[in-house]
Amino acid sequence: MLRDFTTLKVGGPAELWMVEDETDLKDATSAPYRVLGAGSNLLVGDDGVSERVIRLGRSYNDVRSFNGEPDFWVGAATPLPGLVRRAQQAGLSGLEGLLGVPAVIGGAVAMNAGTRFGELADTLVEVELFANGALTRVPASDLNLSYRRSELPPGAIVTAARLRLTPSTPEAVALTMETVDAARADQPKIKSAGCAFKNPVGDSAGRLIDVAGLKGLRIGGAMVAHEHGNFIINLGDATAADMLALVNDVRSRLEPPLELEWRRWGC
Ligand code: FAD
Ligand code: EPU
Repeated sequence: MLRDFTTLKVGGPAELWMVEDETDLKDATSAPYRVLGAGSNLLVGDDGVSERVIRLGRSYNDVRSFNGEPDFWVGAATPLPGLVRRAQQAGLSGLEGLLGVPAVIGGAVAMNAGTRFGELADTLVEVELFANGALTRVPASDLNLSYRRSELPPGAIVTAARLRLTPSTPEAVALTMETVDAARADQPKIKSAGCAFKNPVGDSAGRLIDVAGLKGLRIGGAMVAHEHGNFIINLGDATAADMLALVNDVRSRLEPPLELEWRRWGC
């Protein structure tokens, strides 16, 4: 069940394909597929998806090979939180704004994960992609990264990313991290997929939902969090249908409607 692989903990069945190398990638992509990262920005339908769901395995998780060089390649299944911590310890700046984003590198590239303290695009130099049956390297500028958006070629799977950080000190990076962490104080700790909606230019979706009086609005097991209006949480037994109904309800009550940040699969 895909619910076991998403932070929102909803979503039905799928055929999971774990890949460890290029041969596996060729096999796995021989039929329609989707790519799963850490599942932290996904709303998956209760009936699951008919396509294969590809997960990059351990061979694409190489945070341990990061040796403190400012310019380095990192595998797409590498968890971002561990890398953020390692960079801080090495006194390298550039990733600290991403503290608290529970992504893996591939998903962080695809979403251009970020906060107001920085986004992945600030450090991304180049990516390795599996596309059209082969591995290829493309400069980050080809991905046209913008707020929570990338333009990956259709069907492309990010297999690695080359990041370039800036020499600093562990103390200075840790200090910024305290600020980044403090900015998350109002975010709920309950099952979520982060902010449900993108912020409209110059405003905050959370603030708009809050002033519209929608905090606490609930459908089944889905609820607009009391702590932060842009977090639509799973109280424990929510279905994807609950989550989607609540998202649509919130959108219908605001003008202009907010744009969903979550990626929808099969719903
Ligand atoms: P997934 O959710 O698994 O996938 C997201 C999309 O990326 C899908 O379309 C998927 O197909 C695609 N994808 C994944 N891996 C690959 C790959 N290797 N190649 C090609 N496409 C791929 N986001 C922020 O930007 N800022 C925040 O501050 C933030 N805070 C969060 C806090 C919490 C508690 C949670 C649960 C989420 C938060 N998020 C935040 C949302 C989420 O962490 C980001 O969107 C993240 O980038 C998603 O990465 P993922 O690996 O989980 O990708
Ligand atoms: N606000 C309210 N009520 C709320 C929520 C927010 O009044 O319920 C107000 C706050 O008081 C503040 C303003 O709105 O004045 C902005 O709120 P916040 O600082 O929480 O930031 P945000 O815009 O809601 C963004 C990102 C987060 C990221 C934080 C921290 C988006 C959609 N959200 O939230 O990213 O973690 O900044 O930098 O861009 C995500 O993308 O999934 C995500 C969690």
